[in-house]
Amino acid sequence: MPPLRNTPRSFGLVSVLLHWVTAFAVLGLFACGFWMVDLSYYDPLYTVLPQWHEVVGLALVAVTALRLIWRGASQQPLAAANESRSQRALATSAHIFLLLGLVVVMASGYLISTAGNAEIDVFGWFAVPPLIDAIDNQEDIAGYWHWLSAWALIALVAAHTAAALWHQYARRDNTLGRMIVPGSTLTPDTPKKENSV
Ligand code: HEM
Ligand code: HEM
Repeated sequence: MPPLRNTPRSFGLVSVLLHWVTAFAVLGLFACGFWMVDLSYYDPLYTVLPQWHEVVGLALVAVTALRLIWRGASQQPLAAANESRSQRALATSAHIFLLLGLVVVMASGYLISTAGNAEIDVFGWFAVPPLIDAIDNQEDIAGYWHWLSAWALIALVAAHTAAALWHQYARRDNTLGRMIVPGSTLTPDTPKKENSV
């Protein structure tokens, strides 16, 4: 059984699963978002895709809430020994902006779907109620922020992915491997004392 919790040198199964579920959901929602807004009224997916987009997006709200709680309650694995302070600070701010970007995309998506006091229907099982209905032009304003924050998030994800691949294949320090295999460590396994992921 792989370790569930993070240690000072490795990610545990819970952090790894939460990371990759989020990554695939974000990429899927981004593609689905652009695809669905260009569909014609007569396309069979015209109503299906937006509903899936909303439901998967809401599931991601729950996953992100869990993730933030887990991150707050866990220790973060230590940085690679060969990394400078400024590189580490850049990576840490990128991680914080990724989480912040996620929150803005999800909140604005929720505000588009609940504009005009509408509920979000989850396949007829239950409905998510509107919480705010006090913004004029809520659908347009939230739509603009949703579009903008989705692009900003994807740009950040591209830089984050490039950094992960560079660490893994140019520096060969197993940064990516550590986020894939729970319990695995960096190579060489000599982390700095600072605690900042
Ligand atoms: C698509 C959305 C993504 C988001 C929102 C995201 C977010 C994050 C965050 C917040 C962390 C910090 C650790 C944590 O809190 O779990 C992290 C770590 C990491 N991510 Fe991502 N990530 C995404 C996609 C990716 C992709 C596509 C890759 C690589 C192909 C990747 C590789 C990594 C690696 C290797 C780490 C560990 C970094 C370290 O040890 O310092 N991520 N990610
Ligand atoms: C990380 C999560 C999400 C990503 C990456 C994402 C991405 C996108 C993208 C790229 C678009 C197309 C934007 C455009 O061209 O105007 C879109 C549209 C939309 N999204 Fe999301 N979305 C996410 C979460 C959500 C959530 C949680 C909801 C609602 C509960 C939602 C509701 C909508 C709606 C209603 C539209 C259609 C907007 C319109 O017709 O202009 N999204 N999304």
